Amino acid sequence: MTMSMTTPRTVITGTGHYVPPRIVTNDDLTKLMDTSDEWIRERSGIRERHHVDGGVGTSDLAVEAARRAIDHAGIDPGTIDFVVAATLSPDHYFPGIGVQIQAKLGLGTTGALDVRNQCSGFLYALSAADQYIRAGTYKRILLVAAEIQSTNLDFSDRGRDMSVLFGDGAGALILEPNAEADGRGILSTHLFADGNFVSHLWMEKPSPKDCPTFQPSFFDEGRFFPRMEGRNVFVNACQRMPESVREALDQNGLAVEDIDVLIPHQANDRISLMVAKGLRIPVEKVVRNIDRFGNTTAASIPIALDESVKSGRIRRGDLVALTAFGSGYTWASALIRW
Ligand SMILES: CC(C)(COP(=O)(O)OP(=O)(O)OC[C@H]1O[C@@H](n2cnc3c(N)ncnc32)[C@H](O)[C@@H]1OP(=O)(O)O)[C@@H](O)C(=O)NCCC(=O)NCCS
Repeated sequence: MTMSMTTPRTVITGTGHYVPPRIVTNDDLTKLMDTSDEWIRERSGIRERHHVDGGVGTSDLAVEAARRAIDHAGIDPGTIDFVVAATLSPDHYFPGIGVQIQAKLGLGTTGALDVRNQCSGFLYALSAADQYIRAGTYKRILLVAAEIQSTNLDFSDRGRDMSVLFGDGAGALILEPNAEADGRGILSTHLFADGNFVSHLWMEKPSPKDCPTFQPSFFDEGRFFPRMEGRNVFVNACQRMPESVREALDQNGLAVEDIDVLIPHQANDRISLMVAKGLRIPVEKVVRNIDRFGNTTAASIPIALDESVKSGRIRRGDLVALTAFGSGYTWASALIRW
């Protein structure tokens, strides 16, 4: 969605991320299932990921990331006037984590929106936050994307295609209207979905369609675990992410050569390389940190964004392209003049 030049653009004034301290290497996984470090690295580029210990919830990771973004922005948390949270793994079936983040940060009665768009969740949330800021509804939004996948993966041979890929973590941003007329900020966000692919990447159960919702046979059949058709996900991700970036560039009158930094959702390093190839963008411009985090679902882009900002890889004035693909299928892109 693009908006007229008369409305102020949304700028990112703070970033932060947090991952739980426990590192799980590929070799650690070989003790649980028939897999190997070589297979995982060759097929996904992942060397290690972080897993939570018992008792830690997604909202806990989210709050740590949020605190870091708040510190980075140098703001008083009491001035945050809206919270947007993206996750597919809330602490509870309901409510979502937005309200928990809001309460843990002591934000009084500030509104909190939960976004459920899986690996595209961060970009869908960014788009929503951008519209609120540009419309003048809110002046300082905390956006958090957080995920715990490790506590509900099938670590048997049956689930090894999925369970080696995912990790836990959180990323956060502070968003505000740009007071300067310097053209910096979010240029556009583009959101897409094709719900014909729901069952290609999903957690089928629990479902309120079943009465009762929780049935022992579902546990026996492993239907409470996420499942995917990996090849189909791979092919669609490689096609849709470049497509969405091209659409964003076209609508802004920009070219691939104008992009300084591309951050694709870290689904699989082979997918990131295919996205680079599809866009004909030099691989040096593509942020790739999946080797250390695995796929952290909605959190992967804001984690990579925070690392890139703090390491100086993203500099003021750079054109930053973000793109994601995930369950739904959903996919999206955003262009930001940093
Ligand atoms: C999952 C993925 C890495 C599998 O790679 P692939 O090249 O498609 O491999 P295949 O599914 O064809 O499986 C090849 C073999 O490896 C086996 N295999 C699967 N997972 C394995 C693992 N962790 N370790 C060892 N072998 C494994 C399969 O059982 C299969 O064995 P077979 O040939 O005897 O049947 C790949 O499909 C992928 O990355 N898809 C996208 C996943 C993704 O990004 N999901 C999240 C999107 S947000």
